[in-house]
Amino acid sequence: MKIIRTARSMTAWSERLRREGVTIGFVPTMGALHDGHRSLIRAARLRCDALVVSIFVNPAQFGPSEDFSQYPRPIARDRALCREEGVDVCFEPTPQAMYPEGFQTIVTVPTLARRWEGAVRPHHFAGVATVVAKLFGIVRPHLALFGQKDYQQAAVVKRLVTDLNLGVTIDIRPTIREQDGLAMSSRNRYISPDDRQAATILYRALQAGRQAIEVGKGAASTVERIMRQTLEEEPTARIEYLSLCDPASLEPLERVDRRVLLLGAIRIGSVRLIDNVVVTASVRTRRSRVAPVIRGRGDGNFG
Ligand code: PAJ
Repeated sequence: MKIIRTARSMTAWSERLRREGVTIGFVPTMGALHDGHRSLIRAARLRCDALVVSIFVNPAQFGPSEDFSQYPRPIARDRALCREEGVDVCFEPTPQAMYPEGFQTIVTVPTLARRWEGAVRPHHFAGVATVVAKLFGIVRPHLALFGQKDYQQAAVVKRLVTDLNLGVTIDIRPTIREQDGLAMSSRNRYISPDDRQAATILYRALQAGRQAIEVGKGAASTVERIMRQTLEEEPTARIEYLSLCDPASLEPLERVDRRVLLLGAIRIGSVRLIDNVVVTASVRTRRSRVAPVIRGRGDGNFG
């Protein structure tokens, strides 16, 4: 496995392969790799001839009071995981290489980025959209993989690729979880042992929302109340948002019909957790009071 640290060498490597007709897969990450990242890497490995993973803790997507400096950076372990999974290039640029003096272009996706994570973390998605556009420009992949775990991020990335005609196919992969349902995250290592059990409450609240939809609750306010009540059973959890929205526009819904995205963010101690599930309810239209029939299983698919 090659380790590349400059944009110039990275692009030169990709361009050479592209000229030979080799397909390039790309998994952008901030490192501290876990089985969620691994699943993206494996899926990419199966679909492409050559595979690039980037490891870059992007300062532009952290707010001033966020955990940029504390973000875990176990680079030796990350490289070992990449090697194990047959990654061809680990791209590890420095912040100076990504944001040299004179850098000023910012990519924003204003409507999709407005709510939820974007409301709590005002410049976050501009930071994500800019770095992703830049990484695509440097790595020049045919295919890039992202996780549904960060649903809004995936929606923002899909939009920017379409809007800017970047010509990269985006594949969104399911959320990988611990046995007890907690979505894997690089930040989970900071959950204290005392809080570890409580951290499953977000997934449990989303499941309670799913079940409410499955038994036919059609008003978003009812489903939301049920999710909140579940979350409030855990006094150490502080809710940042918890909502039902349209899986494409991410706008809040009043009625549950067809597909709905349940998403939330909480804090447990100093750790912030986000999660989501998509529920598919097909309402039988012939008799309006018949309960919706659920077709979706698992976390539902992105989109
Ligand atoms: P990071 O948090 O390292 O995540 C990298 C990719 O792994 C993202 O696409 C994310 O959605 C996916 N991922 C994280 N946890 C997952 C899980 N439990 N199951 C499946 N996929 C999971 O997201 C970022 O980095 C950054 O914002 C980045 C896109 C690299 C831009 O800086």
